[in-house]
Amino acid sequence: MKTADLKEEFSTIFDSKPERVFFSPGRINLIGEHTDYNGGHVFPCAISLGTYAVYSAREDTTVQMYSANIPDQGVVTFDINDLSYDKSAGWANYPKGMIKELVEAGYKFDHGFDLFVHGNLPDGAGLSSSASIELLMGEILKDVFDLDVSQLDLVKAGQRDENNYIGVNSGIMDQFAVGMGKKDQAILLDTNTMDYSYAPVELGDHVIVIMNTNKRRELADSKYNERRSECEEALKRLQTKLDIKSLGDLNENQFDEGAYLINDETLIKRARHAVFENQRAIRATKALADNDLDTFGHLVTASHVSLHFDYAVTGKELDTLAENSWKQPGVLGARMTGAGFGGCAIAIVEKDKVDAFKENVGKAYHDAIGYDADFYIAEISDGPRELN
Ligand code: GLA
Repeated sequence: MKTADLKEEFSTIFDSKPERVFFSPGRINLIGEHTDYNGGHVFPCAISLGTYAVYSAREDTTVQMYSANIPDQGVVTFDINDLSYDKSAGWANYPKGMIKELVEAGYKFDHGFDLFVHGNLPDGAGLSSSASIELLMGEILKDVFDLDVSQLDLVKAGQRDENNYIGVNSGIMDQFAVGMGKKDQAILLDTNTMDYSYAPVELGDHVIVIMNTNKRRELADSKYNERRSECEEALKRLQTKLDIKSLGDLNENQFDEGAYLINDETLIKRARHAVFENQRAIRATKALADNDLDTFGHLVTASHVSLHFDYAVTGKELDTLAENSWKQPGVLGARMTGAGFGGCAIAIVEKDKVDAFKENVGKAYHDAIGYDADFYIAEISDGPRELN
């Protein structure tokens, strides 16, 4: 989207003069799924699709927000000194909660503003539009009010917004991937220690194709919480004999040897996914660094298999995309990305096979599911920033 167009859109809604334009990305996760609340590793990157905002300062303490993606909501208005959750504010609670978290962290905002928001992340696709807008608000507040706040503190405020204000019990991955994004780099984050490092995503003749099931992630929240509690229960049982803080503390062999302590088929499967997926994420990062793209691709595919059979978070739509991707020439690997139950999958595809890939997988998907999937080439992008 062009900044001039965005400013023009702003002017159709607000009387004030559009001053500054900001962007915050969405994210994909390459591998390390459902590990971030299990003390494991994740390996996500920010993407060039995301959320734009046009900002204009006000002299009073009123905040007005409008989203071109949800025009029915109209202009949401509140006072910067009253940041209580308001169900009727809808999407605006995400940025509002971010202001609240920063106020609670001690930052002061002495005037309001008008904010026009327009995103190009596909709706409900699991590419973290919520983290995108949380960190967008964080970045704007940091720049405009000249806050002395680290990027990591903004990331953590975003997670608190999501967990406490919005009430979704998610891990740190999405806010981290969005907030710390770097062009052409993925981020290996150890959610146990919060140590992280950047890794160039050099795929040679290959690109990452994002495949949107166009199925809304409806069950996502309840099933997500169910998986979290299953993992917590498995951990509790392991801790009766093992001195561990999280499932991420175990390697594959240690898990096998301790699985008798869990002694329940479902719980063993859930915990096994968390343990193996964490180890896979570490191995995949190394494979990528060694330019061993075949191994990287096999691990990506293995992740999907584990998310299907052990973690049970894929569903027919994501399975159809992944399974059909695996059959195509020039594909190194494919898997769901994000929470699952709909949303998006990714495939690593040879550049000159992408057209055939889209056509074949697209057709197979339509035949099996009855509506179309969408395909995008992922561009790995920087984190939140002001645009000139
Ligand atoms: C969602 C959550 C993340 C993470 C993923 C699964 O995106 O917001 O914290 O748990 O699911 O890996």
